[in-house]
Amino acid sequence: MNVVGRIMAPRARRRVRLGPAASLRAYAARVSQRPPRTRFGALWRRHAGVRARTSLVAVVAVGAAVTVGSGLLITFLDRNLTAGVDAAIQLQAQDIADNIRVEGIAGLDLRRRLTERNVIQVLGRDGSILAASPGIDGEPPMTHAAVATGKAKLSRMERLPGGNDEAYRVLALGGITPNNLPVTVVVGQSLDSVQASVDTVTGLLLVGVPLLLILVGGVTWSLSGRALRPVEAIRRQVSDIDAPRLGSRVPVPEAHDEVWLLANTMNRMLDRLEAAADAQRGFVSDASHELRSPLASLRATIEVAQAHPDRADWKRTSEAVLEEAVRLEHLVSDLLLLARADERGLQMQRADVDLDDIIQAETDRLRSTTDLAVICHNEPVRVPGDPERLSRAVRNLVDNAARHAESEVSLSVRAIDGWAQVEVADDGPGIPAQDRRRVFERFVRLDESRTRDGGGTGLGLAIVQQISTAHEGRVEFLDVPVGSLVRLRLPLA
Ligand SMILES: Nc1ncnc2c1ncn2[C@@H]1O[C@H](COP(=O)(O)OP(=O)(O)OP(=O)(O)O)[C@@H](O)[C@H]1O
Ligand SMILES: [Mg+2]
Repeated sequence: MNVVGRIMAPRARRRVRLGPAASLRAYAARVSQRPPRTRFGALWRRHAGVRARTSLVAVVAVGAAVTVGSGLLITFLDRNLTAGVDAAIQLQAQDIADNIRVEGIAGLDLRRRLTERNVIQVLGRDGSILAASPGIDGEPPMTHAAVATGKAKLSRMERLPGGNDEAYRVLALGGITPNNLPVTVVVGQSLDSVQASVDTVTGLLLVGVPLLLILVGGVTWSLSGRALRPVEAIRRQVSDIDAPRLGSRVPVPEAHDEVWLLANTMNRMLDRLEAAADAQRGFVSDASHELRSPLASLRATIEVAQAHPDRADWKRTSEAVLEEAVRLEHLVSDLLLLARADERGLQMQRADVDLDDIIQAETDRLRSTTDLAVICHNEPVRVPGDPERLSRAVRNLVDNAARHAESEVSLSVRAIDGWAQVEVADDGPGIPAQDRRRVFERFVRLDESRTRDGGGTGLGLAIVQQISTAHEGRVEFLDVPVGSLVRLRLPLA
């Protein structure tokens, strides 16, 4: 963009006013078009698998560690070998100085003291060469530094006067002749052997380190491949699992590691999915089954009446049809409530609900519609909740009690320890202890109720439980010697 364009652009952009959703979309589009910081980085993140990444990280980490280690090794080796050279020339210089002190320069035989790589000079006070070993004979002095008697000075020379390019360690040691003339003994030793050792080790490292890195990369690649094999097996198995085949499980490796944990977690998830799918299928088939009988009864009633229209009692027929239609309507509304609760939880209104009013209304209803003795213990209790749903829950419990009672139903509500407690009791056959939890499942009716006229569909208690859970409450049948007692507890405000 040229300068004018750059200046104009913000103004042009400002002119278009975007709504929040549109500006979010525009931002997302800009971000998606933005080129990745480095092309390699983006490609690497997208395409390099765990194996490649693990291997590269291992190679880089080991490479860095080995490089630092090699550097340190070479430095220490160089220092150690040089220290050895220093010690050797120090010994030799001391030996020569001792010799000069006793026998003077004339008694000195430098040829005898030569090792392969060293050179010796004895300098006078004025820097003149008093004696020199054959290798440096006729050359200028190696050092001009005057060194006091008994003192020593170590230095490094990159090349000797008149010598080749070899580096030397040089020691100048102050000595004295028998007639008290100060001299300087200078001993130099080539660092050639030190350099050769360092070069050899460096060469070995230059070959060995890349080989080591190739080995590390290969081993990591192969080990991570082996470690990922169970993951691949799990992936393959999961890709074959679909709704009709929820029964299969992913393979669980023997080693109790992270993959074992993953496989077990997946299998537990599949257990839950299978159970949910089974429950869904059971619900649909039970629901269809329950819908069939009122529909069949409706159809039979109408068919009989149509077969003999002149003899049919149309008033009774219409009453029977209406009765079945009402049953169907109740059933369908129960099914709808449960299906919606499964889908997104119970949708509830929030209000203050007077439970004592609900209990009173149920008492009045029972008294006016049945011959049962209805006992009511009421105290004012108010809870937050959905008035319609809570009435429905209490009605379901009262209907059950009325259906199974011999002669008496008792209703009560009171507040205890922060809970509202609704109890409905009857003097009927009661529910066997082993069935007291099961009756809250959908479509569960105990044998005795199936044969009873006007028996329900087995959804009433399931609905009560949904409503009580949605109010963070709890519903259960208690152990009583006669009849049954069901208690619904709801948190007070
Ligand atoms: N008070 C009770 N006494 C004895 N058995 C009961 C009592 N309440 C419930 N049950 C048993 O529990 C079963 C399930 O009750 P639930 O209210 O869920 O279904 P239902 O009453 O049969 O049908 P619905 O309530 O859908 O019309 C009943 O069929 C009955 O066998
Ligand atoms: Mg019921």
